[in-house]
Amino acid sequence: MAFTHEKIETNVILMAVLTLITVAIGGLVQIVPLFTIESTIEKVDGMRPYSPLELAGRNIYIREGCYTCHSQQVRPFRDELERYGHFSLAAESMYDHPFQWGSKRTGPDLARLGGKYSNDWHVAHLIDPRAVVPESIMPPYAFLARRPLEANDIEAHLRTLRLLGVPYTDEMIANARADLVAQTDPDGNSDALLKRYPKAVVAAFQGEPGKPTEMDALVAYLQMLGTLVDFKSVNIEQLRQ
Ligand code: HEC
Repeated sequence: MAFTHEKIETNVILMAVLTLITVAIGGLVQIVPLFTIESTIEKVDGMRPYSPLELAGRNIYIREGCYTCHSQQVRPFRDELERYGHFSLAAESMYDHPFQWGSKRTGPDLARLGGKYSNDWHVAHLIDPRAVVPESIMPPYAFLARRPLEANDIEAHLRTLRLLGVPYTDEMIANARADLVAQTDPDGNSDALLKRYPKAVVAAFQGEPGKPTEMDALVAYLQMLGTLVDFKSVNIEQLRQ
């Protein structure tokens, strides 16, 4: 036995071939079972595409590089479950192009942020993080409150996502601009918006009702993160199947 080992260890080509075979077996064991299941995304109730205002907010989140400090992925570890809540499901990011799982947590994970704070808290925090969290090292984003939301191309964003498989309907695309404004006007009629995008948070987040700023869009996005799936109805055993 020792003799054969010496042979392998002193022959680089033999060593490489045997290593390759070992790694290939390991790879097959991991990959082959995946071919036998139809989808790696579990079926859950409640997921829907982003409302136009949430989508605009998400684009600002990406533009401002929030993902360089924040992840959006609760891992199935006890400390994370106790801090953030239910671990993230694949289904929760199936409409994300690109996904925002992230790999850096200078700040906390944001996957289950929706509803944790009030809209006013978010606005105050984004304008000056130290006003609400004195020890914060997060940079301020006060300019978002002064910038009107440019959303003339919102239909094109929806259409592009539809090309990638997000189920936006013709009706959603045709009403994108109206829905975007309706979500910032709590005194207006938001029935159609809520029918298309259940659970969307309708509020004059920071700007004037019906005149969205970039801050409005970003807060609308933050307030829906992780709120769509009703976890009381999710059966973990069923997810494992
Ligand atoms: C330089 C790193 C950094 C960047 C960039 C950054 N943050 Fe933060 N963020 C933090 C840190 C650190 C905290 C924790 C302290 C605090 O609450 O301010 C935090 C906290 C937060 C919280 C509170 C989370 C909670 O559960 O208490 C929210 C919401 C948030 N950030 C949103 C954003 C958004 C939106 C952006 C982009 C516009 C952003 N952050 C960019 C570092 C960052």
